Amino acid sequence: MDRPDQTTHFGFRDVPLGEKQTLVNDVFHSVAQRYDLMNDLMSVGLHRAWKDVMITTLDPPKSDRPFALLDVAGGTGDISFRAAKAAGTGFHATVCDINSDMLAVGRERATRQHLDDRVSFVEGNAETLGFADRAFDAYTIAFGIRNVPQIELALREAYRVLKPGSRFLCLEFSTVDVPGLDKIYDLFSFKVIPPLGRAVTGDAESYQYLVESIRKFPRPSAFAEMIGAAGFARVKWQSLSGGIVALHSGWRL
Ligand SMILES: C[S@@+](CC[C@H](N)C(=O)[O-])C[C@H]1O[C@@H](n2cnc3c(N)ncnc32)[C@H](O)[C@@H]1O
Repeated sequence: MDRPDQTTHFGFRDVPLGEKQTLVNDVFHSVAQRYDLMNDLMSVGLHRAWKDVMITTLDPPKSDRPFALLDVAGGTGDISFRAAKAAGTGFHATVCDINSDMLAVGRERATRQHLDDRVSFVEGNAETLGFADRAFDAYTIAFGIRNVPQIELALREAYRVLKPGSRFLCLEFSTVDVPGLDKIYDLFSFKVIPPLGRAVTGDAESYQYLVESIRKFPRPSAFAEMIGAAGFARVKWQSLSGGIVALHSGWRL
């Protein structure tokens, strides 16, 4: 049970734990229609390469062997679409996201890409997944977990819904550790991204939150410890683009 005095952070602001999800939901309702365009602009296209690394690591079977992926905080479906295109006919992805506007954009994209029979969309909260124990062959979460108020709960749920012998993969912004790059990255994050967000979506505040939330996310070693504490084994991570992003992995054995 949440205690009424528990707080967390929403970007750089301290907020009551129970309020964070509402604030996060407002962000993604506001940006949903322009979310994919903004991803390309903000990351100068790099998010595509980062997502490709996640799919290569996931390595879904290319055969007709059944393989069920759960893509949590899957938003407009990018990870699931990429996985479906890399996989064989036995593949099915379930995109689970708390935000109906993000899911609506995802459903339209699935139809346009003729992937609606291989990717389905379900509204749900990462902290309390509405799926049976041991139901999935893989769990992915890309740029989602830092938005979840209680990360430990989401990790425990990930463990619960995975079959033994299957994999958890998390792609998330991380800590830039290359001297020089850190200054350029800070400048770009705080001086370019919010005004860009205002120009493209009419909403600078949501993008201010996004860059602040990246700075508040645990360092990769601390996040790896949290993944281990949820029960996962063989936990490791790979830094990408000088630490802008990290791909974390763990196995339910
Ligand atoms: C930055 S987007 C990532 C979307 C997609 N995975 C991608 O890589 O493009 C973050 C997503 O997390 C979702 N989200 C935030 N809190 C959540 C929660 N508690 N449970 C499920 N999804 C959540 C948001 O609605 C949003 O769609």
